[in-house]
Amino acid sequence: MQQTSTKRTNKPEPVKRAHVRPIPQLGGGVPFLGQALGFQTNPLDVLERGWKKHGDVFGFKMAGADFVLFAGPEAHDAYFRAAEDHLSAKDVYQFTIPIFGKGVAYDAPRSIMDEQLKFLLPALGTGRLRKYVELMQEEIIAYTDEWGDQGEIDLARATNDITVNVAARCLLGREIRESFYDGFADLYHDLQLGINTIGFFAPKLPTPSHIKRDRARKKVVKLIGGILADRRKSGRVEDDFMQTLMEAKYKSGRGLTDDEISGILLTVLFGGQHTSATLAAWVGVELLQHKHHLPALHDELDSLYGEGPDFTTPMSLASLKASDRLHRVVMECERMHPPLIMLVRKVMKPFEFDGFVVPEGKMAMVAPALSHRLPTVFKDPHRFDPDRFAKPREEHTKANLTLIGFGGGKHRCVGMGFAYLQLKAIWSTFLKRFDFELASPAPAPDYGNWVTGPQQPCRVRYTRK
Ligand code: HEM
Repeated sequence: MQQTSTKRTNKPEPVKRAHVRPIPQLGGGVPFLGQALGFQTNPLDVLERGWKKHGDVFGFKMAGADFVLFAGPEAHDAYFRAAEDHLSAKDVYQFTIPIFGKGVAYDAPRSIMDEQLKFLLPALGTGRLRKYVELMQEEIIAYTDEWGDQGEIDLARATNDITVNVAARCLLGREIRESFYDGFADLYHDLQLGINTIGFFAPKLPTPSHIKRDRARKKVVKLIGGILADRRKSGRVEDDFMQTLMEAKYKSGRGLTDDEISGILLTVLFGGQHTSATLAAWVGVELLQHKHHLPALHDELDSLYGEGPDFTTPMSLASLKASDRLHRVVMECERMHPPLIMLVRKVMKPFEFDGFVVPEGKMAMVAPALSHRLPTVFKDPHRFDPDRFAKPREEHTKANLTLIGFGGGKHRCVGMGFAYLQLKAIWSTFLKRFDFELASPAPAPDYGNWVTGPQQPCRVRYTRK
């Protein structure tokens, strides 16, 4: 169903052009800050203005840095195929090092980071995913059991709580899930404070939130270290990411240190939790504004799980994979509301596309939020229309890399399959058990956050079936 992105190959293919074309510059910013103020309020507006005026490649200034935006499938292809020593993600993600730790992910040489990400593959294989679906459903059922027969919730808060619980259970391990309310949630919150604008430019600056972040990381490593020691001592084996990492070895034959295991678990938690929570909230916001899609979704759920609010046939990996209509709704929400609206790389040596040459030292960007709304790719792109992905339309297959909510190329998200399962597990359970309606006006995107979710309040009324 989901379109696959380009393979992880190394060499960009330079476009041969007789003349270098000057990169058009987007005007209208203010001195030094450039487009920063516009980006703070509505980056999509700024980018759409640039695209309408200049097309698939244009430059702009933001907070003293020069950015060049690449839009459209051809540009994505060149961008995502560029090697790390050409367009560097590592240089941009330095702010994650105090959270993930030394020698982990973006602090490690790319070959080591690749090995670390490969350690996760067994944890994302079919056998494990089958188990995670059971755990996901247990968590979602337990969470919604706490709701009354009727009431109001903040949807973004609810999807955040559920995805934290699921991540703790499947990724971090049963022990952390069980000790959750004894402090891990607070530590996670303090770590999240470390992702902020100052941290992006000066991750080591001792601001109050950075001090909290550093203290929290020390405590998390201690907590995880205690669990690792306990598992080793008791010989207990669990079905989770932590176990996979405990058994993994680098090509050199060396096992992972406790600090590395903690760092990789935090990488995965930060990569997957908040992003999944916001996309799950957007699914609700869109569906509740377009309720005419609900009857067909209910038919699909009835055919998979039996009629009524209970699951006569239990949810499984197979049933979630067979949820075609729900899958298309999630894809449409990924298209309209990609949680990561911009992906940035630092240009390490001149990067050429379609005759434009971006010099070393500049920032190169693709913006899923803009690219997913190009009328040249998606018909009527501002309209919520999940059927654009159904046969015979399949708008996303007209070119490679049209849908890039999970990135592309060598940095493409390793957790996409897990994320899709979780999103479908949440909404299958929600829709089966409850009727919903929006209780506040449909929220606009909250661009003040690193991950773009719906603005608060995002109130929803529910009635148990
Ligand atoms: C809706 C949920 C999610 C979204 C929208 C999302 C989006 C993305 C995007 C756009 C990238 C590429 C970043 C770049 O190119 O700079 C990425 C990378 C990554 N994601 Fe996800 N992600 C999600 C869920 C997950 C989950 C559940 C996991 C783990 C189980 C995960 C782990 C990662 C990791 C480790 C990377 C780095 C890959 C690399 O650099 O090679 N993500 N994700």
